Amino acid sequence: MRHLSVPSHETERWLAFCRSNGWLAPTGVVPLESDHRGVPLTQSAPADDDEVWEGMQVVDTEPRSKGPTHWRERLPVELHHLPESFWPSAYEIQGDVLMVKVEPDVEPHAKVMAQAMLEQLPNVRLVCADAGVEGEFRVRQLNPLASRDGSVSTRTQIREHGVSIWVDPGSVYFSARLSTQRLETLKAMQRFRALLNRPLVVADPYAGVGPSLPLLLAEPDLLEGFLAGDLNPDAVGLLALNIADWTAPTTEFEPKVVFCEDALKWSERPELVGVADVLLVNLPHDSLDHLPSLLPLLRKQNRSLLRGWAIVERTLLSACPQRIHDAVSEANGRCEDVSVEEIKGFSSTRCFVVFQTIIAWD
Ligand SMILES: C[S@@+](CC[C@H](N)C(=O)[O-])C[C@H]1O[C@@H](n2cnc3c(N)ncnc32)[C@H](O)[C@@H]1O
Repeated sequence: MRHLSVPSHETERWLAFCRSNGWLAPTGVVPLESDHRGVPLTQSAPADDDEVWEGMQVVDTEPRSKGPTHWRERLPVELHHLPESFWPSAYEIQGDVLMVKVEPDVEPHAKVMAQAMLEQLPNVRLVCADAGVEGEFRVRQLNPLASRDGSVSTRTQIREHGVSIWVDPGSVYFSARLSTQRLETLKAMQRFRALLNRPLVVADPYAGVGPSLPLLLAEPDLLEGFLAGDLNPDAVGLLALNIADWTAPTTEFEPKVVFCEDALKWSERPELVGVADVLLVNLPHDSLDHLPSLLPLLRKQNRSLLRGWAIVERTLLSACPQRIHDAVSEANGRCEDVSVEEIKGFSSTRCFVVFQTIIAWD
């Protein structure tokens, strides 16, 4: 089959050129010798010596053979009669761990299914059956089904916004769904920093493995210090590891606190009271109820920024701003503005919201 032989670094340009002219065959680029790539050509592409090729050679070589495009095609033949609808249609990957819900009908075939997934997805090390979340830490029950190298640890690293984060879906809650929210937190804090005209202390008492923090820690002059913690000891272990990775030893933060403690009890420690400028509240089923216990952490001078996430019944959505106003008034503050915005795609009866307010202490 005819392929246009191009230097590797020009592959993208020639792919786009051939595609836009309808001359790109669908078999994929093949590696050639001397750091060249073969762009597969359709029969209608111009002759080998046509000047459109700008002197590039057209060579005759084997097209790339396409492997299966879906893991189902890798199942043993005796299972091929089962309809597509029988198998899970979705899965989630964190780092090199794949998690899939296995319905009772599929269970007898779960291990061969996991093997087929491993063969199809070269970046996956471990496939686990996901039996749903459990307990106060909302941790998933994961049962290993197949491993590429024999290891069954669910600890792994993900990348988010260009940063590596240690996670462990088998022992700590983490959701990639809030990744855009973490960028929004950075923007909100940049604006707030400009308002106060000084670096900020952030408190993140439900930090999990700490995904809110790397963007904040990396932003020059944004943070003076941080208080971060979680009640789940496994989360705090990874949180400490992550923070060590995200902070250069030369950067000074004051305070710099990471600990395992019930957020409701933070304000019983005098050294944590009146310290934070920004409070992040991410315990969605309880965030609004916990506010009264958390507000004492804020430094009651000038202004503070409160930002959190909550799950509320749709019928109670309109009452949310008032609940925030009330909690802040109880703490002798005044909300300058309260925004409660729905984050789409959660459920029809309940909504997932992000709330934010600047609190004035006058
Ligand atoms: C929804 S997760 C959020 C984790 C993290 N902020 C994130 O975005 O991935 C809530 C976290 O709060 C922790 N948690 C639950 N109850 C807590 C409490 N009373 N005090 C402190 N942490 C708590 C859980 O272990 C969990 O890691």
